[in-house]
Amino acid sequence: MQKNKDEFIESSSVNSSFDSINRQIPLALTFDDVLIVPNHSSISSRKNCNTSTYVSKNIATAIPIISSNMDTVTEKQMAITMAREGGLGIIHRFMSVSEQVRQVNSVKRSESILIENPYTLTFSSRLKDAWDLFREKSVSGILITKENHELVGILTQRDILFEENPDTPVKDLMTTDLITAPLNIDLKDAKEILKSNRIEKLPLITKDGKLAGLITTKDLTKSKMWPNATKDNKGRLRVGAAIGVKGDYLERTKALFEAECDVIVVDVAHGHSDLVIDTINTIKHEYGDDIELIAGNVATAKGTEELISRGVDGVKVGVGPGSICITRIVAGAGVPQLSAIMDSASIARDEGIPIIADGGIKTSGDIAKAIGAGASTVMLGNLLAGTTESPGVPVLRNGRRVKVIRGMASLGASLGRDERTHGSFDDDFSEIIPEGVEAIVPFRGATKEILQQLIGGLRSGMSYVGATSIPSMWELTRFTRITPAGRQESTSHDVETI
Ligand code: XMP
Repeated sequence: MQKNKDEFIESSSVNSSFDSINRQIPLALTFDDVLIVPNHSSISSRKNCNTSTYVSKNIATAIPIISSNMDTVTEKQMAITMAREGGLGIIHRFMSVSEQVRQVNSVKRSESILIENPYTLTFSSRLKDAWDLFREKSVSGILITKENHELVGILTQRDILFEENPDTPVKDLMTTDLITAPLNIDLKDAKEILKSNRIEKLPLITKDGKLAGLITTKDLTKSKMWPNATKDNKGRLRVGAAIGVKGDYLERTKALFEAECDVIVVDVAHGHSDLVIDTINTIKHEYGDDIELIAGNVATAKGTEELISRGVDGVKVGVGPGSICITRIVAGAGVPQLSAIMDSASIARDEGIPIIADGGIKTSGDIAKAIGAGASTVMLGNLLAGTTESPGVPVLRNGRRVKVIRGMASLGASLGRDERTHGSFDDDFSEIIPEGVEAIVPFRGATKEILQQLIGGLRSGMSYVGATSIPSMWELTRFTRITPAGRQESTSHDVETI
């Protein structure tokens, strides 16, 4: 006891830096504290504002929007839509490793010009095997090969329409009259073959007749429908997935890497920590630049600098700004988001590492402010949780259609987690101290339409700045601080809204 007392007295008297540092408390601001100052603009149409950007060092997107790795926001359906619309989805980690890999596979397989490993059955398979595969993979045709991968036929839904005996061999039902092409065929030629033969599937084969890939009309049509889609160099949609820093995180990383997940996001509440730094070191040591790695969340220049110095390709910024976050109330810690972005971007820009502004975005105006403050992209939870593509179904509450959103550190999410991750998630604390809440958001319909509104608003913000690109937004944006009266004047007022 006396020792503690002595230590206390000693530290109080010698630590004069405590006073000098803590008496100069800096002011930190968030989106609602500022407005973008209109600047001279030569932009005659918002269409001239280019929103393309980078999520991380090597992942480019056409729009600066990412869906949050929350279990009420991003699973495969959201990830597919986000990538098709030119953004990116990060699949949350609160599921088993095999389930997360299955979800990544679904996104990567949802469309690709060349399917490298088409679904197959062998010569000896039975109708019941085909039924299972059709049901499981939702495909319209299965290629049939011999054990040595030699292509011998194709089985379509039409071939089995009136068949009832589950034990019928597929070789008795398949179509053997196949039109194939060599693996290195030109896309233009492949389209011509599909068109002139009025077929939907073109298997690609090696010189000795072994199956090597597949091109389908469906995938070609899809690539026309979503010209801005975020794709890898094999024409497949891109997708990200989150990992933690404990339990099965290395096994998860390996499985995601093998599934060719495009970017892995080390996602914990306090990213400026030994746990995250050790995780980055381990992953970068094992995989080097073969894994595109984003880490977070941080809220300061120092935190950003430290993660970048460990080799990350992107930094996620935001401690406590999220709509369902109560970290700042429970822990008293965090930084208002606009200042956090500006601080982090001041370091990241020099290093050429993109910043993701994660949390607290309520409007398209906030996106413009986040980008103007130096972010390369924004991550959305709330604004996407109420869409058709988020997990779960809308329910009626007081006559309104709503969907659920929940903080990943909320009580419900924490309780449900162990079971779904097979015990892989163990947080820093054995007792649950919730730092998030469960809530409802209005059902908002299709993600595509929400994104259109948000991007339209962002483009408008860019035109007020006179910026035709995101990097020019960083250069040209100037903010002005506003008072509560200025804030009130900024929303509709003195009218009854209808
Ligand atoms: P918005 O505002 O878009 O924010 O809904 C989404 C982001 O909030 C973070 N998040 C949490 N933060 N406790 C927190 O302090 C939580 O339970 C929680 N759950 C999510 C996360 O960064 C997300 O992208």
